Amino acid sequence: HYCSIESLIMSIDPEALLSAAASAATHAYSPYSKFCVGAAVETASGRVFTGCNVENASYGLTICAERVAIFNAISQGDSKVVAVAVSSGGAASPCGACRQVLSEFGPEMQVILGDRDGRFSEQLSLKELLPKAFGPDFKKE
Ligand code: THU
Repeated sequence: HYCSIESLIMSIDPEALLSAAASAATHAYSPYSKFCVGAAVETASGRVFTGCNVENASYGLTICAERVAIFNAISQGDSKVVAVAVSSGGAASPCGACRQVLSEFGPEMQVILGDRDGRFSEQLSLKELLPKAFGPDFKKE
């Protein structure tokens, strides 16, 4: 079926998603860490939503680019994520908190990592990054 997760994953364009992530990283508000991150999520409907990290003088209130991107998708009515691309120095992979939040909205999603210019580094599944994730199913009696 053309809407199956497998076919949606096949249709992901990693370079295009990384380029959206790299362009979002230019909006990073990170005066404290000086580490700029951009993320782009693609939903099952083919839409792309971006986010950047947003820091705060009260450091602990910082939010990562990945969560900004996914909350952007959810808040615009699109909640089934098939892929996320992350662009940053060192082609960083998502932190544990972001892995958990991503998992809620796309346990089957692909994670595409790239450098600050959006150059491809690696593609893997969220399940590899967060095996045995806690999810909504655990709460069904
Ligand atoms: N950061 C992200 O935006 N995403 C990640 O996957 C790792 C860390 C941000 C948080 C903070 O603003 C800066 O990078 C340094 O930790």
